[in-house]
Amino acid sequence: MNSVLLASNRGPVSFTVSDDGELTMRRGGGGLVSGLSGIARKDGVLWVCAALSDGDRNAVRLAAGGRLDHAGYDTGPLRMLDIAPATFHRAYNAVANSTLWFVNHLLYDIPNSPSFGTRFAREWESYRDYNGAFAMALAEEAGHGARVMVQDYHLTLTPALLRAERPDLRIAHFSHTPWAPPEYFSLLPDDVAGEVLEGILGADHAGFLTDRWAQAFMDCCERLLGAETDRVARTITYQGRTTRIGVHSLGVDGAELWERAREPDVESHMAVLREQVGERRLIVRIDRTELSKNIVRGLNAYREFLAAHPEWHGRVVHLVFAYPSRHDLPEYREYTASVQRCAKEIEDEYATEDWEPLILNVEDDYARSLAAYRMADVLLVNPVRDGMNLVAKEGPVLSPRCALVLSREAGAAAELGEHALLVNPYDISGTAAALHTALVMPEDERRSRRDELAAAATALPPRKWLAAQLDALA
Ligand code: G6P
Repeated sequence: MNSVLLASNRGPVSFTVSDDGELTMRRGGGGLVSGLSGIARKDGVLWVCAALSDGDRNAVRLAAGGRLDHAGYDTGPLRMLDIAPATFHRAYNAVANSTLWFVNHLLYDIPNSPSFGTRFAREWESYRDYNGAFAMALAEEAGHGARVMVQDYHLTLTPALLRAERPDLRIAHFSHTPWAPPEYFSLLPDDVAGEVLEGILGADHAGFLTDRWAQAFMDCCERLLGAETDRVARTITYQGRTTRIGVHSLGVDGAELWERAREPDVESHMAVLREQVGERRLIVRIDRTELSKNIVRGLNAYREFLAAHPEWHGRVVHLVFAYPSRHDLPEYREYTASVQRCAKEIEDEYATEDWEPLILNVEDDYARSLAAYRMADVLLVNPVRDGMNLVAKEGPVLSPRCALVLSREAGAAAELGEHALLVNPYDISGTAAALHTALVMPEDERRSRRDELAAAATALPPRKWLAAQLDALA
């Protein structure tokens, strides 16, 4: 039986199946997974996650009890849940990604959406079932008094469901996203909003990446549930139980990141990129193609910068790595298309025979991303809203001289803001001006800011984050 367990929708690995039926294993993507995989595995934490694709389902079906590590995969302790595809699809795409993610990132186009009818009621039922499947698996795997760390908006109901099953466990929930203010959170149907909040309050400890998101959660519990909050002690009392609220920032492990970033595949990507861009300055961005990442406004800011600063024509390249994400959702497919359209317009307007002003790449390649970080002069991170943003932390660790242009709406701004160039993500002229400031920043200043950024970014590596979570359950 396990004494420490971690549950999240996406696991540390995913599988693809080739035409001849062969399974290939890859590392999972996104902030949560990149932060936690190394360490969960080293510490022997049992990770419970969902099968996301046909490849994953194939792998799970060949592994007794869904234990991929017992089936010979080098994953660390890992149980993958084979949830019925239709249920999974409604829980993950319709509820988690199209509803809870949209609410917490304030992404709705309000005159047109959301609207909640009978279809949503069915989707919500699936979200309950999916959360229930996690609760049952955790209840089966956890030893007496074990500590269970439930992650993110996919699993808001699991803490309460698990507590009902196994009152002996100590349960934490952690949100890797922002939290919406009550007036926006209450776009959700009242019963759904209540269930989400009560679900998380089923935990002993509810964690957030910054104080801002923790306060917003407390505001919601106070206003929507009538719960009692103590802002000094950071507790919420509801129906006779008290949940502690924690703020635990997540940073990067500099040594581990460097270990990977020195590998030969990264070095060869650097050589290729150098060949492509020559000695020109590099403005880099690396994101999932995600609505909240604000890639289109970022491109338009670069376009404004080029228009305002002809002296930089031929001397700078914007490297945009926007790897695919959540392509089952039409909004994401359309968004990818507008990123591509906008990039093409910039190319058409400014490219010359010997200068490509912008290189857009939409395939995921971790080694190439690390290469880009190492070469960056400027890193652009301009989300409209973001729980933390690990790109803003990884970049300064790997680049010796990068200046960071950072959205004030990213959780990371709380720690990095002082040494970054903060921007309002909606203000593309302001962002264009910041790109220019970043490019012309004197060498001494960029190096000293970069050192401060790297120090702040590595102050709370995943190991400390996890330890703080576990201590909070002690
Ligand atoms: C964010 C979420 C994670 C999620 C990641 C990637 O970082 O907080 O929970 O795993 O995005 O999204 P995906 O839908 O591909 O898992």
